Amino acid sequence: MGPRLPLTPVVGDLPEMVPFIGPETFERRQGRKLRVRLGANESAFGISPAAREAMQAAVQDSWMYNDPEAYDLTEALSQAHGVAFEQVLVGAGIDELLGLLVRIFADRGEPVVMSNGSYPTFAYHTTGHGARLETVDYVDDQVDLVGLAVRVQETGARLVYVANPDNPMGGWRTAKQISDFVDAVGPECMIILDEAYADFAPQEAKGCVVTQPLALAPGNVIRTRTFSKAHGLAGARVGYLLADREIVDVLKKVRNQFGVNRIAQVGALASLADTDFVARVVDGVWSGREQLRQVADGLGLNCLASATNFVNIDVGGGARARQLLAYLIEADVFVRMPSSSPGDRCLRVTVGRPADHEIFAAALADAMTRVDPS
Ligand SMILES: Cc1ncc(COP(=O)(O)O)c(C=O)c1O
Repeated sequence: MGPRLPLTPVVGDLPEMVPFIGPETFERRQGRKLRVRLGANESAFGISPAAREAMQAAVQDSWMYNDPEAYDLTEALSQAHGVAFEQVLVGAGIDELLGLLVRIFADRGEPVVMSNGSYPTFAYHTTGHGARLETVDYVDDQVDLVGLAVRVQETGARLVYVANPDNPMGGWRTAKQISDFVDAVGPECMIILDEAYADFAPQEAKGCVVTQPLALAPGNVIRTRTFSKAHGLAGARVGYLLADREIVDVLKKVRNQFGVNRIAQVGALASLADTDFVARVVDGVWSGREQLRQVADGLGLNCLASATNFVNIDVGGGARARQLLAYLIEADVFVRMPSSSPGDRCLRVTVGRPADHEIFAAALADAMTRVDPS
């Protein structure tokens, strides 16, 4: 062993952390391809033909640096959401933007509040920046907005994270509930409202804070959106946030200037304009959720209500869920399970195509004959 690396204290103290084991890792481990890929909440409906064409045309321009301002995309997003250009920031997925937000709002040792077991990448960034994670348990499988607001007050946190609709539980809070939450948290604390799954949500989860022009939303609410879900561009890595222009200005001081490559920028721009495509994907997800509910029904299992592109199938307990998951992966069927209670009694299954659901249903039925029924 050579001399210790001169790491910063925060990084030196970090535990090993892998927020997600990718499906490719399972393929490498098992030495074969997965049959279905229903674990990462990607879109089984592919990408818009317009996006494909734009991206293919942009390949040959890859010798040029990308526009660091992502000007055309930012402009189109500002129009789509009825906000000023200066209130939009494009990044390499919501994941990158979450890291930047933690960086500017949470110092070492400071409390940051989120639901226990909610989107792991946020917890990853919080820990990675040396801030202290304060978690609040789900109540009845839903984000406990009252509990989160109380925890903010108790700890004096300056940053709180809520995904609405939520990952991993899939549930949603109404616009009125979110708005009450914003009031309860108060103006001193920044609220990240992660709306990665907003396209799939029922109308009641929208309105007010969620869809009102940002000018009318309180200045401490930062909304994050992505092209990874309904637009099917997860591998292109494009997300954005809508926030007060002061916040966007600060983020521009620390962001990776060339982080969103030019192929991704043009693809997202074309996809944004292809509203028919996105509407078809959303329809496909709604009917796919219903198909998965029927699969669960057929096996005597309960499917939790979802406003996302995935469902949670309650298999009756954490040990059972882990066993089933292991069997499914072994059968080359990639799904995931929430990491902690109450979701860890479930298998989390992304909506796929009917043929994917058939393979999943058969593999789950088979796995259920092999595991302890309790
Ligand atoms: C709640 C939530 N936020 C953000 C993301 C990631 O978004 P992006 O692909 O834009 O980084 C996900 C992906 O699963 C998610 O579930």
